[in-house]
Formats: sequence, structure tokens, C-alpha cells
Amino acid sequence: MLDQLTTLEHAALEEMTCVTTSEALTAWQGRYFGTKRSKGKLDEAMSALGKMTAEERPAFGKRANEVKQALLAAAQSTETAVKTAELNASLQAGKLDVTLPGTPIKRGRLHPSTVTLRRMYAIFAKMGFEVYRSPDVETDELNFELLNMPPDHPARDMWDTFHTSQPGVVLRTHTSPGQIRSMRELGTGGTKPIRVILPGMVYRYEQVTARSEMQFNQLEGIVIGKNITMADLKGVFTEFSRHFFGKEGRIRFRGSYFPFTEPSVEIDVYYGLESERDRMLTKGTGWLEISGAGMVHPTVLRNGGYDPDEWSGFAFGMGVERPAMRLYGINDIRYFWQNDLRFLEQF
Ligand code: PHE
Repeated sequence: MLDQLTTLEHAALEEMTCVTTSEALTAWQGRYFGTKRSKGKLDEAMSALGKMTAEERPAFGKRANEVKQALLAAAQSTETAVKTAELNASLQAGKLDVTLPGTPIKRGRLHPSTVTLRRMYAIFAKMGFEVYRSPDVETDELNFELLNMPPDHPARDMWDTFHTSQPGVVLRTHTSPGQIRSMRELGTGGTKPIRVILPGMVYRYEQVTARSEMQFNQLEGIVIGKNITMADLKGVFTEFSRHFFGKEGRIRFRGSYFPFTEPSVEIDVYYGLESERDRMLTKGTGWLEISGAGMVHPTVLRNGGYDPDEWSGFAFGMGVERPAMRLYGINDIRYFWQNDLRFLEQF
């Protein structure tokens, strides 16, 4: 009887030498100590106790208990070893060096033209202007005719035009067609005053140089009301320039001609005349032209739905990149669309 217990003990300890995982250990424990569903070998051996005489029992019981303690001790030490091994393996698998440098996330930034436009919006917003959007692709009628330039009008030569394959449809050469659109929509049949700015890209079939691009932004402005005069135009533009360029910014109004304004002016900002490049950019004058402007022509007012005997207004069409050049000291307009990060990252 006692031999049976010894055999069992040896077998169990022998098997234990092969246990290297938690699963194997659980299976081993099930085999010797039983599971919910089945009896273990140790319990089976103990059942022999029932058939023993009173003299045999104490020795058997004592020995059985020794075997049980030996197996429990073996299970305990194997469990510790297995857990340690498994923990080390999982740490090894999930190894992470938190001291390694990370991958930097590159952030984009706003294009200098966008930065400049936003600066302009903020200044005009303080003077009560709202932003009105007008399309880049326009009809010949809106880009020219309704602005007082019938077909074959010589002033059309002021804007070399990109035509589309659709007859009568062009890329806008200026933001001025938005004057007609905003007057018609917001003026509601010439009954309400308007005060809006119209930003956007314009397109010209022109030679690209340091001072002119074939595509650039303009900010149109139009104010229609009762008793609007040239003094309002000068006041608004001077106020704008003071905020945009700061105190050192000098501007001048110079008599000019546009078919859709009468009288017409051009507005220049003083750029400087220190270098050969300044001379070239400013055509030797030191002044850089940044805007056309004037009092809205009676014919254009009528095309917008207003009675010119009752209403008047002023309009301007200002470049965006040229004022930005003056503000940031950029001496070549071509930088704006070259997509050179060394330039773009400075804004
Ligand atoms: N549209 C003109 C241009 O692009 C500028 C302008 C706008 C002039 C409004 C007068 C009034 O040259």
C-alpha cells in the first residue's frame, strides 16, 4: 500500500520536470489533485483507506499526507518559475525603448497670400465691410460688357484674357465683375446701400516678371449709398493703409483711367529706391502700384440696378501680393507660387 504512494509520488515529480508553461501546470494539478469534473490520482489513492484495518490506517495516512505536501511544494515552486519565465518572455516581446527620438509631425501653415488676405479682411471688417464671393470663371458680359466695355472697346486691351473653349466664357481678369454681382444681389433692385469686399484669384495672359504674375489675388471693394464721394474713397483707403502698412507706410493717389469708374485713380505705396531691384520693381519711381479705384461709373450703377441720380459709390481693386511684398520686404512676386518651402516657411 505504501509502495503505491511512493510510485505515485515519483511519477508526479518526474512529470513535473517537463512542466514549463501555465497550461501544463494546470493540467498536472488536475491530474493529481482533481478538477471540478474528475477526481485526482491522489484522492483515488486515498480511497484505499476505507478498506484498511485500524492498525494500517495511521501509517498510510501519514505517508499520504507527506506525498501531498511534496506535490504541493513542487507545484508551488514550478508555478513561481513558470510565471517568472512567462513574464520575462512577454516583456521581451513588447520591448519599447522610450528614450528613442520620436518621428516629428510636420505642421502645415497658411500661404503668405492667405495670411495677407486675412489681415486685409480684419481691417475692412472694422470699417463695416462684409466679404462677398464671386466666381473665378466669368462671362465676357460680366467681366467686360456690364463694366462699360462693349465688344471691341479698346480698353479691353488693358487685360490680356484667358479664354475658355466655351465662347463668351473667360477666366476673370479682375475681381470687378463682382461689383455687378454684389450690386444686383445685395442692392435688391437698387434699393439698399452696400459695403462689401470681394477677394479672389484673377488671371491674365501676361508675361511673368518680378512685379507681375499671370495669376494673383485681388481684393475688390465696393460701397454704394447716398452722397458717397471721392473723399470717402480716400478716407477708407488711407485708413486701410495706416492699419496695413503701419505709420511708415506712405500711399499716393494718382489720376488714371478705367472704363467703369469716373473719375479714376491708381494707388501706389512707397516701396523704396535703394537697390537696382527696387528700381526695376517700381519702374524707377520708388512707388509700387497696388490698386485701381474710382467713383462707380453711372452706366455701371445702372447695370447694377441703381439710379445714378440718387445713388453713388466708390470701388477699388487692390492687389494682394504687391502689398504683401511691401509689408514683408519680398522683392520678387514669383516667390508666391514657386512653392519653395524656404520661402513659405517664413510666414
Ligand atoms: N479692376 C481694375 C483692375 O484690375 C481695378 C479697379 C477696380 C479699378 C475697381 C477701379 C475700380 O485693374
